Amino acid sequence: MFITLEGIDGCGKSTQARLLCEALSARGAVVQTREPGGWEGGAELRSMVLGGSLKHPWSELFLFLLDRAEHAARVITPALEAGKHVVCERYHDSTLAYQVWGRGMPFEPLRGAAELAGFPKPEVTVLFDVEPELALSRVAKRGRPDAFESEGLAFMHRIAEGYRALAAADEERWLVVKCGERTEEEIFAEMKRGLAGKGLSL
Ligand code: TYD
Repeated sequence: MFITLEGIDGCGKSTQARLLCEALSARGAVVQTREPGGWEGGAELRSMVLGGSLKHPWSELFLFLLDRAEHAARVITPALEAGKHVVCERYHDSTLAYQVWGRGMPFEPLRGAAELAGFPKPEVTVLFDVEPELALSRVAKRGRPDAFESEGLAFMHRIAEGYRALAAADEERWLVVKCGERTEEEIFAEMKRGLAGKGLSL
């Protein structure tokens, strides 16, 4: 099964990815990965895109798409073909939320790009829905912010809104987990309940 985890910066998805992979590994091989940079060669691209020094407004988008294409071809598709579960932090929905709602790029061409490129489609996408104020206060404690984290609160609000709109438009694929001030264990328990509702009992 191909599961993607989404949410604004500081939403807590890395912790949930780890817990999910631990639980899933009892049911077979699991590949845990993430974007940007989840393939050999991805680190360089990651630092280019997060470093904040790109000049053309579309460079960032093309780098994310390039990253996804190589990641899909080298990591995701081979794992799925080998019958493994794949858990990926961020995927094409990050591009839609950040580049469309965040940067103001057009929705349809970007949505269509994933189809044109033949990127594998996630069966389940979990949205960790957290208030931007809370998420950014966590990010602030992590050290030097990257190009997206330093965009500020209004940017994160637009992205949070984008994610909610994407989830509302495809309830079959999306699972929305309201995080609020809940603990990691409570959030994981809710994700588990939601996944069971989508046919994946852990
Ligand atoms: P990262 O440090 O991985 O953030 P996080 O730990 O919050 O996932 O940085 C990824 C950043 O890149 C994050 O701010 C979201 C952004 N991003 C996009 O804008 N578009 C994309 O397609 C992807 C994959 C990420």
